[in-house]
Amino acid sequence: MKIVSVVGARPNFMKIAPFIRAIDSYNHQQGESIEHLLVHTGQHYDGEMSKAFFTDLGIREADINLGIGSGSHAEQVGNTMIAFESVIREYRPDWVVVVGDVNATCACSISAKKECVKLAHIEAGLRSYDMAMPEEVNRKVTDCLSDLLFTPDRLSSENLRKEGIAEDKIKFVGNIMIDTLEYERPKVEKLDLPDVLARNLVVPRTSDDLLMITNSDFAVVTLHRPSNVDDPHCLTPLIEFITNEVTRDMPVVWPIHPRTRKQLELFGLWAKVSRTQRLFLLRPISYLDMLRLNMDARVVLTDSGGLQEECCVLGTPCLTMRWNTERPITLIEQGGVSVLVGNQVERIRTEYHRALALPRSPARPELWDGCTAERIVREMVSAS
Ligand code: UD1
Repeated sequence: MKIVSVVGARPNFMKIAPFIRAIDSYNHQQGESIEHLLVHTGQHYDGEMSKAFFTDLGIREADINLGIGSGSHAEQVGNTMIAFESVIREYRPDWVVVVGDVNATCACSISAKKECVKLAHIEAGLRSYDMAMPEEVNRKVTDCLSDLLFTPDRLSSENLRKEGIAEDKIKFVGNIMIDTLEYERPKVEKLDLPDVLARNLVVPRTSDDLLMITNSDFAVVTLHRPSNVDDPHCLTPLIEFITNEVTRDMPVVWPIHPRTRKQLELFGLWAKVSRTQRLFLLRPISYLDMLRLNMDARVVLTDSGGLQEECCVLGTPCLTMRWNTERPITLIEQGGVSVLVGNQVERIRTEYHRALALPRSPARPELWDGCTAERIVREMVSAS
């Protein structure tokens, strides 16, 4: 069997690492060989957004890098489709495997199907039902084209059934992100918190400052969604809440996404955030460093889907700065730790104070057991 798998952007890397390991281990055990080619579309290209993740997660260098880079959605999707079509024509795989919901996922799915190659989607069936999110468009397009849809939870399988996807294509296998979390956990537990900070600081701090972060009483913030960071009327009150209120209660650690930094500079907010005494601004940090922060944080304020899932398994109270989620399994009402707080400060403030009173409470949804990638490889072998 010949597989081409695709990664493009930061959240894809932790989903592909366990898949590659599972293929290697299948080949080792069975003495059979699944041929596997890894394609990086190059949507994320900075060392911090891409290479650091390959190094951290032990992913070998991609066999092919399409070098797509930044651009409008149509530019990214269109350029990726054209470049990926040539890869398929040259290699003629039996399967193309895509992960997640970024532009690379959608673009390569379309090219694969137009070349009549079977398509498998890892992390299928997530739905926010918010078509203003580019990721929702990517998910729907990818799922309706896929021949095998690997879902992380039963709610996602149900979403696919409602859309009329045939039952035999839907495979509930669990959450592949958690394979990576469990695999890396022992390594991460050994990381020293002040050292994580010192290696990633944007604005230099004294070593005494860094010791503020040792006592498990700090908040972690991440923000990158266009709906939160592209409009100054939305971003400014969020920044005020974080810098004036949260830092009064505890130090705040904030790894900044390139888009967010650009927007803060554009809206004249950069000076304020970079001068707030108890706010530690970090560069985009590696997977292992992020997990280390999450393991000890008292609360996480984020608009990232992946962090919601990691908070769920680690038990960190999570305020999800969105009005909807494609990952309802992580919400408190489903047994998780996450609360949807949107981007209105009053609501965020109320839930933030409620979250501070919550104990750390790890949850483990069904099949989030670290063995998802092995199940996926087994399903693919039996479908071939
Ligand atoms: C993309 C994904 C989003 C994911 C996020 C994680 C889509 C539609 N969105 O959003 O689902 O949660 O990645 O980061 O695919 N940039 C750099 N260096 C890089 C990459 C980007 O500086 O290596 C800057 C560029 O200015 C670029 C901007 O960040 O224009 C946004 O990058 P882009 O890939 O368009 O989308 P993300 O916001 O990162």
